[in-house]
Amino acid sequence: MTFKTSPSLLAADFLHLESEIRRAEAAGADMLHCDVMDGVYVPNISFGFFIIRQIAKITSLPLDVHMMTACPQNYLDVLKNAGAASVTLHSDVMPMDELIETLKKIREMGMKAAVSLRPKCPASDVFPCVPYVDMILVMTVEPGFGGQKFMHDMMPKVAELRAYLDEHKPECEIQVDGGVAPDTVAECAKAGASNFVVGTASFRAPDMGEALRGIVKTAEDAVKEI
Ligand code: DX5
Ligand code: ZN
Repeated sequence: MTFKTSPSLLAADFLHLESEIRRAEAAGADMLHCDVMDGVYVPNISFGFFIIRQIAKITSLPLDVHMMTACPQNYLDVLKNAGAASVTLHSDVMPMDELIETLKKIREMGMKAAVSLRPKCPASDVFPCVPYVDMILVMTVEPGFGGQKFMHDMMPKVAELRAYLDEHKPECEIQVDGGVAPDTVAECAKAGASNFVVGTASFRAPDMGEALRGIVKTAEDAVKEI
């Protein structure tokens, strides 16, 4: 299994964003996680497309855009123009038929598509989306803020999803987001996650390279034990 890290810019020092991105590149990040929040879908407001556009101009790391907004379908053109490599939508933000149409459109536009489950949503909520996505995000905190406590009770959902994907779409990745750190990543990997969003435990670690390498090594060791 190949493990990937996606440092969450929410934990970066925004006064020095360019050097923070260089730090993530030097640390071996596979992508950069951009959390877009609108104060409606989640009780917080972060940054938007203008910032993503500026980031895309200075890095070749793929931008993994996590949309925590109402009406994400209204922003697909602007996301494409801003340089998003992948777009993650939440499963409970619109009815299933619209969600599938939006995921299809994201792919037609040349971006990767992903769907996310917030903690209260069961794995089965995204089964109908599986043919249309490259990745499924399982939130391991309530979306809205960085630095929250990892929810261990999300692991059975990751395992259920992995079992479903192994049967229907083995190449589909599971991403986990929220409180992912050296002491929580082993259980994520064992449950079947392979893509780790890491905010606090990457940008706020004493050495980001060491932190990301440690996370990947811990995940590799954890699955060897199975
Ligand atoms: C929370 C965001 C996360 C957040 C993770 O709603 O989706 O991406 O930045 O931060 P940590 O790793 O600090 O929990
Ligand atoms: Zn996120």
